[in-house]
Amino acid sequence: MVENGNRILSNIVSSQAELHARFGGVVPEIASRQHLLLINTLIDEALTTAKLKLNDLQAIAVSHGPGLVGALLIGVATAKALAYARRLPLVAVNHLQAHLYANYLGGAPQLYPAVILIVSGGHTELLLINSLGDASSLGSTRDDAAGEVFDKVARVMDLGYPGGPIIDQLASGGNRTAIDFPRAWLDDHCRYEFSFSGLKTAVINHLYHAGRRTETFNVADIAASFQEALAEVLVEKTVRAARDHQAKMVLLAGGVAANSRLRELFEETLANSLPGTALHFPPLALCTDNAAMIAAAAYPLYLKGNFAALNLNAHPGLGIGL
Ligand code: KG4
Ligand code: ZN
Repeated sequence: MVENGNRILSNIVSSQAELHARFGGVVPEIASRQHLLLINTLIDEALTTAKLKLNDLQAIAVSHGPGLVGALLIGVATAKALAYARRLPLVAVNHLQAHLYANYLGGAPQLYPAVILIVSGGHTELLLINSLGDASSLGSTRDDAAGEVFDKVARVMDLGYPGGPIIDQLASGGNRTAIDFPRAWLDDHCRYEFSFSGLKTAVINHLYHAGRRTETFNVADIAASFQEALAEVLVEKTVRAARDHQAKMVLLAGGVAANSRLRELFEETLANSLPGTALHFPPLALCTDNAAMIAAAAYPLYLKGNFAALNLNAHPGLGIGL
């Protein structure tokens, strides 16, 4: 529950990580069934924490994409039912745009032009924002998303799920220069595009060859070296975009924005190469998926009267559409 688009009254997150851990990734069918089981309890808990009743609400916001269709449908159907029963406006929110609003909820100033890097389990997108509501895509990943690579590397290393936080933690005790994993800079005409499948394969090959030679390998060194290769490319390309477009601010969003080395490297690199450019990342709780960012993103749409009809559908492949 969010008031005036910027004050969080409650932000209840029910993580399914444990449920999916033994599969090494999200199982869509389990995810939607679990959504169905928990959604009403979660809404009750959000109301209780915010000390509100359903009657106090002025609008219902819901993410209609992108994402897993089953889970999206549960959210959309629930939101439509609530909006209809309570005669409330329904606001449809793009999940990716909502990650951007996590920054404003977290107190980011509105400085433009800004460059934002959205890095999650499903996306790696670099955007130029000229003002709120006026943004264009600079580049994205050609293969795996950054979070997906963290999760897959963790899976081949038998570390658990989700891989990002585990590798982040493990890497803090490792040597990030131990293994020189490849960085895909791509040609100059793809200067804002990313590719991580080569890095993922390099880590898998490294483990395979070390296994064949029955070498004992240092897991922390592999985690740190992999994380460094991935973070360097993300930082370098984002800073490059900020320089090219004279950005006043760099923003980070999405689950991978919680990564401690990525944050540190952004701080160091910006301070050295673009000292006048502000840097903002959401607090950890707002980096990964959460309801508050959906409500915050809905607020400007609500003010404009941009409401969804009750035939709203889920759009699993929805683009950034800013
Ligand atoms: O934004 P998010 O919660 O969900 C999606 O929309 O995908 O992002 C989840 C992703 C997962 O791949 C997870 O491994 C990654 O964010 N992640 C991290 C960290 N915390 C979460 N990756 C690297 N370091 C972290 N500390
Ligand atoms: Zn997300």
